[in-house]
Amino acid sequence: MTTSRISGFYNMTLEERREKILNAVKSPSGTPQTPPDLGAWTTGGISAEAADHMIENVVGMHSLPLGIALNFQVNGRDVLVPMTLEEPSVVAGASFMAKLARAGGGYQATTTDPLMIGQMQVINVTNLNEAKLKIYEKKAELLAEADSIDPILKKFGGGARDLEVRIFEDSPIGGFLVVHLIYDVRDAMGANAVNTACERLAPKIEAITGGKVHLRILSNLADRRIARARCTIPVKELAFDNFSGEQVRDGIIAAYAFAAVDPYRAATHNKGIMNGVDSVVIATGNDWRAIEAGAHAYAVKNGHYTSLSTWGKDSEGNLVGTLEMPMAVGIVGGATKVHPAAQAAVKLMGVKTANELAEIIVSVGLAQNMAALRALATEGIQRGHMSLHARQVAIAAGATGDLVEKVAAQMVVEKVVRIDRAEEILKGMK
Ligand code: MEV
Repeated sequence: MTTSRISGFYNMTLEERREKILNAVKSPSGTPQTPPDLGAWTTGGISAEAADHMIENVVGMHSLPLGIALNFQVNGRDVLVPMTLEEPSVVAGASFMAKLARAGGGYQATTTDPLMIGQMQVINVTNLNEAKLKIYEKKAELLAEADSIDPILKKFGGGARDLEVRIFEDSPIGGFLVVHLIYDVRDAMGANAVNTACERLAPKIEAITGGKVHLRILSNLADRRIARARCTIPVKELAFDNFSGEQVRDGIIAAYAFAAVDPYRAATHNKGIMNGVDSVVIATGNDWRAIEAGAHAYAVKNGHYTSLSTWGKDSEGNLVGTLEMPMAVGIVGGATKVHPAAQAAVKLMGVKTANELAEIIVSVGLAQNMAALRALATEGIQRGHMSLHARQVAIAAGATGDLVEKVAAQMVVEKVVRIDRAEEILKGMK
């Protein structure tokens, strides 16, 4: 089995880390699996030519660092998690919290079926109630039509699942209907399949209702495609420096309470969750804007914007965290398929379904949230940030090789992390 515990990883060179990862990845039966092609990570993954086919008016490339979160265990399986982002502390924070969670059995994660919602807005309808019922009368026919659109998806067990009709009586243009097509997209993100299905059904819906189908587009509030993660952290694992485990636990719970009631705090709290979520979403070539949109819309589902996670304690006083959010990620299409760096990320995690990927992502989100709350509830966020930030400032000042750590360490000792000071220290050292 793959192990996600690699000691001393932090202090290795990039080449040593890549070698360690390849040695750590095993198939579930214990025999080495075909290793992911990590070459893509040394070059950034795609050629300018490939990029030119991806979007319009391409003039170059924009790289981000890719780090590996260690110690993750999701549903009893060790997994090395690739994270792509520019912010220091995030990979270290996730890895550390995953280590604490291991002592309580790691992360338990589940997913619903991968059901996406396609929306059709029907305007110019004379009688909304009549049109609604007429659509339900033809539901079987409409579903059969939508189901036949993507034979590949169907072969893998996906397809049209349900149709729902909603009425909006009052809007700036008066009343209209919204038809929801519920579509099982299996291992795809699903936008293409769902948009195609909606476009195909539109003329039929027009014929049934006498109205006009205006918009036909997937909803990013993917609240039928939910990923959930839970962890239990033994209270004694939480103790550090002068903080007892109970103090840290209660501090995290009080921090969660703040986000539960105050949208100003909940936005930042959820941003911390998205630090973890987005970086795996990006590493795997998925659409992080879709995930962001879904997350924040879901956070306000009860009428007020609140925390996506919860923190409390169990009957033995251990810390218990949960996270529940939409997770529309795929492993078969789009950039995930064509970007070699994304392919390497999917392969490294050994995921065979989009749901397995979603379960890892939501676990990383929960770990990231805990890392932020633990720091905020104890020593504050700046201490950990400072030494990592100092490295970036040292690099910006022109430090290379060993000098990066040396200049950074000096600034941390002096508690002055500024580019002018970094330049002075660097000059002195040279
Ligand atoms: C910073 O990127 C994320 C945090 O602000 C999250 C939080 O406050 O919970 C530290």
